[in-house]
Amino acid sequence: MKINGSITFPGDKSISHRAIIFASLCNGKSIIKNLSDGKDVQSTIKCLQQCGIKIEQHKNIGTIVYGSELKDPKEKLDCGNSGTTTRLLIGLLAGKGINATFIGDKSLSKRPMNRVLIPLKKMGLNYNSNNGKLPVKIYKSILSNESHVLEISSAQIKSAILLASLNSKGVTLISEPNKSRDHTEILLKYFGSNISLKNRKITFEKVYERFKPFNIKIPGDPSSASFFGAAAAILPNSKLHLKSILLNPTRIGFFEILSTMGAKVSIKKKSTILGEVIGDITIQYFQLRPINIRKSQIPTVIDEIPILALIATQAKGRTVVSGANELRYKECDRIHAICTNLKNMGANITEKDDGFIIIGPTKLKATNIKTYDDHRIAMSFTIANLLLGKQNKLDNLDCVSISYPNFYKILNSISS
Ligand code: S3P
Repeated sequence: MKINGSITFPGDKSISHRAIIFASLCNGKSIIKNLSDGKDVQSTIKCLQQCGIKIEQHKNIGTIVYGSELKDPKEKLDCGNSGTTTRLLIGLLAGKGINATFIGDKSLSKRPMNRVLIPLKKMGLNYNSNNGKLPVKIYKSILSNESHVLEISSAQIKSAILLASLNSKGVTLISEPNKSRDHTEILLKYFGSNISLKNRKITFEKVYERFKPFNIKIPGDPSSASFFGAAAAILPNSKLHLKSILLNPTRIGFFEILSTMGAKVSIKKKSTILGEVIGDITIQYFQLRPINIRKSQIPTVIDEIPILALIATQAKGRTVVSGANELRYKECDRIHAICTNLKNMGANITEKDDGFIIIGPTKLKATNIKTYDDHRIAMSFTIANLLLGKQNKLDNLDCVSISYPNFYKILNSISS
């Protein structure tokens, strides 16, 4: 089995959420093309519609958002499976003085919300939660901007605080241990906000009336692209061109790591849109070396660790992933999901509290895969099938639609 060809991807999921949110805050009509077609972004759209924002989705034109005032939703806001929807909208609506209740599916209801609720409480938010989890009810409160020293590197926490700070007086200071994705900061800068970023420290002061409407074509999602990049890196004689991909440095850690592991990777910058860099990535198979991924690198590969673990089983030697405890709080406990499934496939993998150790290369064997209904686990173990004769049986294929509904269709079109 090998893969060859050229692929374009649906818009980056993180930027799609933020584009919809910022367009809601604009003074008039914005048009967003190539929006992520995953269910998570639909959750953000539905919640904002419930808060009075008119959003239309057209096949040819794109998504049209008519920015206007936000209102108290009449019904509970169902964020589905999406942590980004929940945490960013809690921040946004808190800052706007909206009364709202947030709920989610079984997986989201287990995930920690105190990481955003505690900083927002410091700003003055009144809320109730189920022991720091959903359902969360926020009450109209007057917020003030504060200094926040974050213990976790998380774009969702940073973004919730920044969105909550949009309407209140004073300067917001945020520092994080290692730099996480910075799309919210880039958009705020693009819209003329007074925001500075130095050594993992953000200083933000509101200059916000309403933003000017914008048109954007969202660049391809590097996290979705990573599954195909992985396939090209582990299957001899493969070569793949990934076109119009988001090249934000906080998001392409996966491709840099693949290159360090010995795959032939070339990254070419082409253009910029709303402050984000876009370009093409080419990946070609080469015998892989193992790698040591440390805590400081984790934020730039946070969503790609499951697929990196599969790649490490094909590299010759000892791969160590450490400082990755955050993976235990994603759509499922991803460290556990990776280790259990890879062990069942015959990999030499040892689970640690904050990561795992893999000794490769291993000829993997087919087994029954437990996806834990997590899209990135399902896609990783589908890519594993390309290494096998007899195929893995996954207990849930549908969950890929959270981020990438056309994953299977595209995969079929490039494998031979
Ligand atoms: C996201 C941030 C990351 C990432 C998630 C999307 C975002 O989470 O895992 O898939 O869009 O802000 P954390 O910031 O909590 O690590």
